Amino acid sequence: MIVLAGLILALHTSLPQTDIETRVNQLLGKMTLEEKLGQMSQSGLPEHADARMLSDLKKGMYGSLYGSASPRARAEVEAAARRSRLGIPLILGDDVIHGFATGLPIPLGQAASFDPDLVQAGARISARESSSVGLHWTFSPMMDIARDPRWGRIAEGYGEDPYLASAMGVATVEGYQGSSLSNPDSIAACGKHYVGYGAAEAGRDYNSTWIPEGLLRDVYLKPFQATAKAGIASFMSAFNAINGVPASGNAFTLRQVLRNEWGFKGMVVSDFESTHEMIAHGYAADGADAALKAITAGVNMEMISTDYRKYGAELVREGKLDPKYIDDAVRNILRTKFRLGLFDGRPQPIPANPPGPTPETLALSKKLAEESFVLLKNENGVLPLRSDIGKVALIGPLADKPNDQLGSWAHANGKTSITPLSALRSRLGESRVLYAPGVNFAWDENGPWEENITRFLTSKDESGFGDALKAAQQADVVVLVLGELADDSGEASSRSSIDLPGVQNELVAAIAKLGKPVIGVIMAGRPLTFHDSAAKMGAVLYTWHGGPMAGPAIVETLFGDSIPSGKLPVTFPRSVGQIPLYYDHLSTGRPASEDDHYTSKYLDIPVTPEYPFGYGLSYTTFTYSATRVSPIGDGFEISAEVTNTGSRDADEVVQLYTHQRVATVARPVRELKGFKRVHLKAGETATIKFDLKREDLAFWNQQMKFVTEPGEFEAWVAPDSVSGVAGRFTVK
Ligand code: GLC
Repeated sequence: MIVLAGLILALHTSLPQTDIETRVNQLLGKMTLEEKLGQMSQSGLPEHADARMLSDLKKGMYGSLYGSASPRARAEVEAAARRSRLGIPLILGDDVIHGFATGLPIPLGQAASFDPDLVQAGARISARESSSVGLHWTFSPMMDIARDPRWGRIAEGYGEDPYLASAMGVATVEGYQGSSLSNPDSIAACGKHYVGYGAAEAGRDYNSTWIPEGLLRDVYLKPFQATAKAGIASFMSAFNAINGVPASGNAFTLRQVLRNEWGFKGMVVSDFESTHEMIAHGYAADGADAALKAITAGVNMEMISTDYRKYGAELVREGKLDPKYIDDAVRNILRTKFRLGLFDGRPQPIPANPPGPTPETLALSKKLAEESFVLLKNENGVLPLRSDIGKVALIGPLADKPNDQLGSWAHANGKTSITPLSALRSRLGESRVLYAPGVNFAWDENGPWEENITRFLTSKDESGFGDALKAAQQADVVVLVLGELADDSGEASSRSSIDLPGVQNELVAAIAKLGKPVIGVIMAGRPLTFHDSAAKMGAVLYTWHGGPMAGPAIVETLFGDSIPSGKLPVTFPRSVGQIPLYYDHLSTGRPASEDDHYTSKYLDIPVTPEYPFGYGLSYTTFTYSATRVSPIGDGFEISAEVTNTGSRDADEVVQLYTHQRVATVARPVRELKGFKRVHLKAGETATIKFDLKREDLAFWNQQMKFVTEPGEFEAWVAPDSVSGVAGRFTVK
C-alpha cells in the first residue's frame, strides 16, 4: 500500500505547479465519497495524536488540523496522512492573529497606524516565523466592521470604516501570502468572519445581525471583497445569523456574492462548529440537515463538528445532496493545497524550536506599536517629558503586565515582553522610578477564567491607593497606566459598560487631588469611556494592547524620542448610551442642532463623540488649507497644503473624505476615500494630493446596482473625520 501511495504521490509531484486544475480534477477522479468528505473535515491538532486520530488520518478522514502544537506533532500527523491511500497532505492551520514568535500590536491598534506598509511587514514576519515550524494557514485577517465597542472582538479587527479595513486587510494578506503561496515562507490567509459578525445586536458576541443588503454591500462585505480581489486563499464563515439566515448556511453570501459575483476560487472553512450550531439557530433540524444546508450553501470545510463526515454519504445516497456540491467543495480544498505546494514537497518543518523573536523583528513590532499610539489629549505641552524630569511615579494595573500588554489572541510568549515599568527603570534608573500598581489585583491561576475577569472589572478594592499616593507625593510627575486586561476584550468578552474597569476612575481622582502633572496611558482592546478621568489628566495616550515592545514604545513616546502619529480607527463615544455611534452616519431629516429642540439628539449629553474617527494629536501642530478639487480625466485631483506649524519634525496621517449631497439612497455625511502618512519637518508645507476616480464614489442603489450617480459632492483633505474646509465638485 505504501508503495502505491508513494507512486501516486510521485505522479502528483511530476506535473508542474502551473497546471493545477488538471491535477485537482485528476486527483478528484480517484477519490471515494468517504475520502472527499474526509477532505471536508477539520479537527484540532493535538500535541500527541491518539490511535483513533492516527487511524482516521491513515484513512484520509481529515483534510486539515489546526492549533498550536510542536513541529514534531505536525510532522507526526502529516506523516500519518501521507500514508493514506491517496496520500493527500493535510493543510495545517492556526490562529496567528497578530504575531507569532514576535508579538505585534492588536489589529485595532495596527489599524490606528494608518500604515499598511508596516502592517504588511508585520504579517510577513508572522508568515516567516509560523511557516518555519510547519504552519500552512492562518485564520487571519479578521475584517469584521465594528460600530459597537461593547463587542469584545472589535479588538481583533480594523475598526468601523470599510476603506481602512480594506487597506489593512489587503496589506495583511499580502504579508502572509507573499509573492506566491507556494513559497516555503508563505502561509495562506483566511478572511473572517464572513460576514457581518461585528454587527451583533447589543454588542453581544454571537448575537443576531440585521443588515439591509445595501449596508451589507457598502460596508460589511467591502473588506472581504478587497481581499478576494487581492488573491486571499480562504474565508471563514461566521457564527452569526444575517437577517435570520446563519452565515454558515447562507447561500446568498457564500454562493451568490462570493462565487458568482466575485469569482472567488479559494476555500471556505466554517468557524468552530458554526455549521452544527445552525440547529441551535433554529435553521437546521439536526446534524444531517446542518450538513446539507452548509454544504449546499458553500461551506467547503467543517471545523471541529463532524456532521459532514457522519451524514454526507447518507445524504448523497438518499438523493438529498447533489454530489456536485461535494466535488465543488473538494476542488476548492485541493486547489488551495496545490497552490500552497503541499503536493510538491513543500519543505517539511525541521522540528526546531520556534524561531524566537530577533532584535530586528522586535524593532519592527516596537515601530508598529509607536505608530499605533493615539495622543488624545496634551494640555500645556505636558508631553513630551523632559529627560531631567526628576522622579516619575509609575502607577496603575497595566504598568507591569507582560501578558496583558500582548492583548487577546496573543501567540507570543509574555517572556518576550518589556513592560512600561521595566522600560522606565532602564531609562531613568531604579531610584527615579516610584512604582505602585494602585489597583491590587492578582490573577488566581486556580480560579476560573471568567471569575478572574469579572473580579477585575467589578473590583471595589481601594487598598492599593495608599502606596500609590505615597509614590505620587514623592514624584515630580505621575504616569498612570490604566485600562483592560487582555481578556477583557476578544472572543466572548462583550461588556455592557465600557468604563475603565474596577476602581481605576477612583484612583485617577485620588491621584489628581495631589495637584501633580498626571499623564494617562490607556491599554485596551476597545474604545473606553473615561470622560471625567480624562478631564483630571493633563495628557492621555491611547496605546491599545501594544505587544511585547509596548513598554519601550510608551517610554520613548513619553520622552519624545518617538512622536505619536496614530489616528482613531473607531469612534470613541462619550457614553455607552450613544452606541452605535460612527462617523459615516446619515444626516437624518432632523440633524442634531443646538438651536432646535426637535432634532436628533439627547436630553442629557451632546450627540458628538468624545473623540471622533480619524482623530489623533502630535507633539507638533499641523494646519490644513482649504480643500481644492480639479478635474482630471473622468476623475478628480483633490489636494490641500498641510503645514507643520510646530517645532518638531513629525508624521501626519492626512485623510480624504467625500460626501454626495443628494442621491437615490441617502449617503453618509462623510466617507473615507484615502489617507497618506506624510513626514513634515518643522515649518515645512507640502501639497498633499489624492486621485479620486468616479468609481470611488459608487454605492449600491435601490435596485442593488453598484453605481456612481451624477450630482454635487464635497471633499475634505483633513486631519480627522470632523475637521477640514470642504472643496466642492460636480460629477456629470
Ligand atoms: C474561534 C473564533 C475564530 C477562530 C476559530 C479557531 O471560535 O471565532 O476566529 O479562528 O474559533 O480558533
